[in-house]
Amino acid sequence: MFRVGILTISDKGWHGQRDDKSGEVIRDSLSLVDSRVTSYEVVPDEADIIAARLTRWTDEGKVDVILTTGGTGLARRDVTPEATLSVVDRLVPGLAEAMRGETFKVTPFAALSRAVAGVRGRCLIINLPGSPQAVRECLAVVLPVIPHAVAIIRGEVTEHITPDSKETSGAD
Ligand code: MTE
Repeated sequence: MFRVGILTISDKGWHGQRDDKSGEVIRDSLSLVDSRVTSYEVVPDEADIIAARLTRWTDEGKVDVILTTGGTGLARRDVTPEATLSVVDRLVPGLAEAMRGETFKVTPFAALSRAVAGVRGRCLIINLPGSPQAVRECLAVVLPVIPHAVAIIRGEVTEHITPDSKETSGAD
């Protein structure tokens, strides 16, 4: 079981002018895996506020994974990637590459998301784009590898199991 924080980043959502459908899509998708949402908040597109939430949730040790949604595009107020980069210790580029690469086959607009993923302390932080459809598509790509990523970050895994072949390879 892993604990998840959902951080929805939306000026309109924060002002109460839009329902957080993307946050609901994240919850629905998470029901497919052994997880529990332990933190949730809607914040405006402000880098310092986003960074503060990411920092607080990770450093309190209450979440294993934070999924953000929104603010990854090219608009002037889209600052989620910058806020995330300012708090992570290490990048996990493959997650963002996989989301863009796989979902680009569905819509070329996938290339317009600047989403990043990284690790802060013992928490994996993944940016997702803002639209419910984009969240559904991108989570379908990365959700299958998140439990294994969490286990590695926790130090619980010393051998990697390749899902297709069941082959193992030493990690240490
Ligand atoms: N990725 C997928 N898989 N599906 C989508 O519909 N929308 C794109 C992109 N990523 C999309 C997607 C669009 S139109 C934009 S503008 C960017 O995500 C950034 O969205 P955001 O600023 O709401 O995060």
